[in-house]
Amino acid sequence: MSKIVVKGGQRLLGDIKVSGAKNSALKIMAAAILTDKPVILRNVPDIADVRIMINVLRELGVEVETVGGGDIHITSTKTLKSKAPYHLVNQMRASVIALGPLLARLGEAQFAMPGGCNIGSRKIDLHIRGLELMGAEINVRHGYIEAKADRLRGADIHLAFPSVGATENLMMAAVLAKGKTWIRNAAKEPEIVDLAKCLIEMGAKVSGAGTETISIDGVTELHGVDYTVMPDRIETGTYMVAGAITDGEIFLKGACSDHLKIVVSKLRQIGIEINCYPDGIEVKSNGKILSTNVSTLPYAGFPTDLQAPFMALLSLAKGTSVITENVFESRFVYVNELRSLGGKIDIESHHAIVHGSRSLVGAKVKAPDLRGGAALIIAGLASEGSTEISDVFHIDRGYDSIVEKLSFLGADIHRTKSETNLQFINFNQAPRANISTAQ
Ligand code: UD1
Repeated sequence: MSKIVVKGGQRLLGDIKVSGAKNSALKIMAAAILTDKPVILRNVPDIADVRIMINVLRELGVEVETVGGGDIHITSTKTLKSKAPYHLVNQMRASVIALGPLLARLGEAQFAMPGGCNIGSRKIDLHIRGLELMGAEINVRHGYIEAKADRLRGADIHLAFPSVGATENLMMAAVLAKGKTWIRNAAKEPEIVDLAKCLIEMGAKVSGAGTETISIDGVTELHGVDYTVMPDRIETGTYMVAGAITDGEIFLKGACSDHLKIVVSKLRQIGIEINCYPDGIEVKSNGKILSTNVSTLPYAGFPTDLQAPFMALLSLAKGTSVITENVFESRFVYVNELRSLGGKIDIESHHAIVHGSRSLVGAKVKAPDLRGGAALIIAGLASEGSTEISDVFHIDRGYDSIVEKLSFLGADIHRTKSETNLQFINFNQAPRANISTAQ
């Protein structure tokens, strides 16, 4: 198994390009099921979750061609299958996002029921209830969700919580439904807006995405599209924190500061200089990190996906910070690993009390999940000595070329062994040309 080894103490300096957003690309790939015309997607990140989604689509009979440079061509012909097998859905919960589009297109869908994961039980009751309101008959049998509807019909759906996945699944189901659908208390994340923009370019009638009420007038068919995925705000935030913790001076090309207003303001509050430009974000740190309190919330609140990277940063702050996790039930699983690096953190229910230390010390740790794994890399960048991180497949799920990008910025980081089983498809133009790929 491959590991990532980071030797702390290097300032990060220079420019890197932010990749396309994982949480947008996966959904837009699923949206391609809604039409039998060709869909061209650009700026798709080269990450394991995208490769799993490609496999899910292919298993459903969809033609997917990876062209290189972040481009994917998808054609969902008439031979589409309705059943997504357990072994694939089980690899990535987010694949359940194809349920709505498949049901809308074929009138039936069978999806393995996704289980919980390290960050909580992650139910999909809101997805199911919404589809039922649109006239679908849904049964859960032998670990599969079986959904049927001759043609979905518009409905007035009020989500009990602004779930990102439920909003997206229902929005995609509604674009081909008969009549008008309202999704109230909808999630407002920028990825929802990106998906809606793509659907509109495909001929869907969607309005209100990015607000708490989305309305959709169903149409009978959609056409193909050539669409560029938005930049990844969570990857951006992760590198902003990496720049901050290493007293760095970095520029994140293509990053969109509008999507990260609260993150920018938190970083400024703790003493990091952030300059926002139309073509990216500059981060400058003088090594002084002040403490603060962070409370995760649905957008436009502080993103839960950046809670772990911030915990790594605040572990080195002057003073005590309180981090409150409000979105997922057990998103502190990585804290024990951070403690192994010297982080002084107490957990009380969904609050973490982070006592800032003067230093962290490298150790052998295990990535417990995607963002917790990224936090360990960040902590390793600022630790004395070497940090060896195992189970890095979690990190590869969502970060395109993370080792290469950080090395390019001057970090002392490498993989112990290349992940031959991942079959990288060489999507993005991450700065591969002038980097020394360590081992
Ligand atoms: C998406 C993102 C994830 C991010 C999260 C919140 C993707 C692939 N993943 O996950 O990175 O952390 O949004 O911004 O886009 N819930 C229910 N019932 C449901 C659905 C959700 O109770 O039917 C609960 C979940 O258990 C969780 C909360 O709602 O506690 C938020 O989940 P949701 O917004 O749906 O997150 P995901 O779409 O799974």
